[in-house]
Amino acid sequence: MHWAHSHLLTISDLTADDIHTVFELADRFAEMADRPVKKAPTLKGKSVLLFFAEPSTRTKTSFDMAAKRLSADTFSLAQTGSSLQKGENLKDTALTLQAMYPDVLVIRHSLSGAAHYLSQILTCKIINAGDGWHAHPTQALLDGFTLHQIWSGFAGKTLLLLGDIAHSRVARSDVELFHKLGVHIRVCAPRTLLPRGIDNWPVQVFTDPVPACAGVDAIQCLRLQLERQAAGLLPSVREYAQFYGLRSSHLDLAQPGVKVLHPGPVNRGIEIQSSLADAANSLILSQVSAGVAVRMALLYLFLTQSQKE
Ligand code: CP
Repeated sequence: MHWAHSHLLTISDLTADDIHTVFELADRFAEMADRPVKKAPTLKGKSVLLFFAEPSTRTKTSFDMAAKRLSADTFSLAQTGSSLQKGENLKDTALTLQAMYPDVLVIRHSLSGAAHYLSQILTCKIINAGDGWHAHPTQALLDGFTLHQIWSGFAGKTLLLLGDIAHSRVARSDVELFHKLGVHIRVCAPRTLLPRGIDNWPVQVFTDPVPACAGVDAIQCLRLQLERQAAGLLPSVREYAQFYGLRSSHLDLAQPGVKVLHPGPVNRGIEIQSSLADAANSLILSQVSAGVAVRMALLYLFLTQSQKE
């Protein structure tokens, strides 16, 4: 199995073949979830450091579980309770962590480019678990894997990303990943929540969810960061929910069997009608399960196959 990467910073680091390699391995690791003993000795003796300087439920827990299922040791550092609160800077914190010899550092940080910066100054492997608005590559991989488990292929499929595109690292990474897989991508948001330069993205742009939903195979709703209203980007959250919140009438316009995704955490009743989050065609919890399998695959690749670039 070929894995020529030392770090995972963005999806642009990966080829389509790399992405399929992750999916094939994740298929095998996903089967472990049904076993009475969900543990293999594959990464015994390896250490995974989870450095989350921003809140996380799904990403942090699933990396932790993925590492433990493969018998790696995990260590966690959060902003709260660490010396970051005493004013220690990112570089000194990172060098301090490296001095404890982790094999891989998984980092989430509010600063776009934080993972890339650490990859320049540390010698251990770095996996980006979300940096600012820039990238969330493991989320995109798990989104792709979730649909890979359901669809027989990606060719001819259309995916809609609905919501706050401008401030979403998930949107940026999903666009890169699904474009590499040959999926036709649409994005839909109010003009104020579309990023500058969107015309250069490989996507079809909509500001009205009604035509945007017509004929799509899957819809990924994106979390509305509620502080956007305070920033004057929305007239009101209620109005946003009424116009851009996914509702059943939107799904009636899509392909029969359309799949609904959301990376979480979900603001029920804002970006998605609450009942749709729990409906049979919702893949939201499948995405969480996929996250464990995909992160097992990544840890396996980085800790057993990866060489220095
Ligand atoms: N999707 C995602 O990154 O969720 P968490 O913030 O809970 O990790």
